[in-house]
Amino acid sequence: MTDLSALARPEFPRSTGYDPAWLIANCMGPHPLWLLEDLAADLGLEPGMRVLDLGCGRGLTSVFLAREFGVQVWAADLWIEPGDNFARFTAAGVADRVFPLHAEAHDLKFAEGYFDAVVSVDAYQYFGTADLYIGYLAKFVRPGGRIGIAVPGVRAEFTEPPAWLRTYWEWDFAAFHTADWWRNLWARTGKVDIRSVREHADGPALWRLWSQVTAEHGESEFIREMSANAVAMLDADAGRTFAFPLLVAEVR
Ligand SMILES: C[S@@+](CC[C@H](N)C(=O)[O-])C[C@H]1O[C@@H](n2cnc3c(N)ncnc32)[C@H](O)[C@@H]1O
Repeated sequence: MTDLSALARPEFPRSTGYDPAWLIANCMGPHPLWLLEDLAADLGLEPGMRVLDLGCGRGLTSVFLAREFGVQVWAADLWIEPGDNFARFTAAGVADRVFPLHAEAHDLKFAEGYFDAVVSVDAYQYFGTADLYIGYLAKFVRPGGRIGIAVPGVRAEFTEPPAWLRTYWEWDFAAFHTADWWRNLWARTGKVDIRSVREHADGPALWRLWSQVTAEHGESEFIREMSANAVAMLDADAGRTFAFPLLVAEVR
């Protein structure tokens, strides 16, 4: 059994303050707080800002944003019921500044220029790969506000799944791209200025560590099995394919 103390990573001091059991019970993929803590270094968040957490899932990142940066968070998601997130936000003591809502990323109901920032962790690849999406999303951010994403991706663009990954391949991995691919997708619209493009250091190794933990400690059979598959896939890959692009752009 992997000891949960392995999750206390010196490079993520803020994330280390969160209960591993809470994270394991509510996770939906790679460790969202490690990704967000890394991304946040480029976001310029200030207390009181209005932040849209788009594709927030069970809202772990929304709680983190409110507690760590003192921002107000609109926690928007498609698959997870806002009522479930409201209960989590209440239990976490942040319901006065984290607002749960149901949202479809292509049909947002906010006022134009409303947000100081949009943040999206392990979700943007599901809805943001179209050429024109960043321009649509940018409408809801004030000029000078920031959009930041952390997504699972790849080290190099591909045309077919790598042969050694065929048995593990999910068709929606087709939305995994390189950091440069995302940079170009955004920059060519002229709607945003790219502020940072980098990869989450040791991203695949951290994904493997987290998957190992959730394979052993996950609450449901589904999570344990999905996580064990991720470990086997990452071992078969041996660092050849996956990466975690982190991008931040400023709205013009
Ligand atoms: C893998 S989960 C990640 C959740 C959370 N950000 C995290 O890291 O724990 C991806 C999330 O994207 C959301 N999502 C996918 N398509 C969406 C869409 N079209 N509009 C809004 N949210 C979407 C899903 O509801 C899901 O909760």
